[in-house]
Amino acid sequence: MNATVMDAEHLHWLEAQLRRNRFLPAPPAELTFCGDGDYRAIGAEFLGHFVRLADLRPHERVLDIGCGIGRMAVPLTQFLSEEGHYTGIDIVRDGIAWCDRTISAAYPNFCFQHLDLHHPLYNQTGLMNAADIRLPFPDNSFDFICLVSVLTHIDGGVLLNYAREIARLLAPGGRCFATAFLVNPPVRDALRAGQGRLAFDPDAEGPEFHADLAAPMAAVAFDENFLLEKFLRFGRRRRRPAVYGCWSGRPGAVFQDVCIFE
Ligand SMILES: C[S@@+](CC[C@H](N)C(=O)[O-])C[C@H]1O[C@@H](n2cnc3c(N)ncnc32)[C@H](O)[C@@H]1O
Repeated sequence: MNATVMDAEHLHWLEAQLRRNRFLPAPPAELTFCGDGDYRAIGAEFLGHFVRLADLRPHERVLDIGCGIGRMAVPLTQFLSEEGHYTGIDIVRDGIAWCDRTISAAYPNFCFQHLDLHHPLYNQTGLMNAADIRLPFPDNSFDFICLVSVLTHIDGGVLLNYAREIARLLAPGGRCFATAFLVNPPVRDALRAGQGRLAFDPDAEGPEFHADLAAPMAAVAFDENFLLEKFLRFGRRRRRPAVYGCWSGRPGAVFQDVCIFE
């Protein structure tokens, strides 16, 4: 058995453990502002995506932008080694406080930081603007940056700034794993045929689409080329073609589309 096969088996075992281990922390019901669904199973699923699609390694330095209530951090506690490091940032103070109390207390190489950025749904009283914030880390600080279900809640101005910041923060060889709703011609056709699971207008001009005009930041899609160009502009390129999710009616196990930049 070579090392790759052993790694794949170990990962498979770890995912199963993460799904069934009731001793791993999970937030109380009043803090579940990051969507419903099985907290442990979704975390286990994404750890698998991080490793299989973006080659996350145990010794790497991870930045989780929009870490919410630690859904990605909890499984990473079982994957990252002591040389590895995890930083989670989010704009919801209570989520960061829970992660700090529950995760950092047991895993000192996991740290969480609140950013008081304004958001109409997540942080209405926020004082700073995500479209011009400089994230509080030096250049080249991270090997792996993830944004899971975050680009689906920001506008084009924030997307541009975060693409710039991600390019600045990734060390050579680093990867960015981001989920999004990507609009392209087949997706427009699927939406027109009523196959999509979200109510984006297939005939809207774009490049930004909102499923609910009364709460535009509740679900945001971007034209695929528009989003791609934001990352290319700062010297990043696609590591692999997008993995398209089933939100738009395509077959597939992942719900949102997955983009990986390097
Ligand atoms: C649907 S939740 C996903 C949370 C987490 N990534 C997960 O998958 O469990 C979206 C998160 O993005 C955060 N968020 C929204 N705008 C943000 C911004 N500009 N910077 C950082 N986080 C942001 C929200 O506070 C929220 O925790």
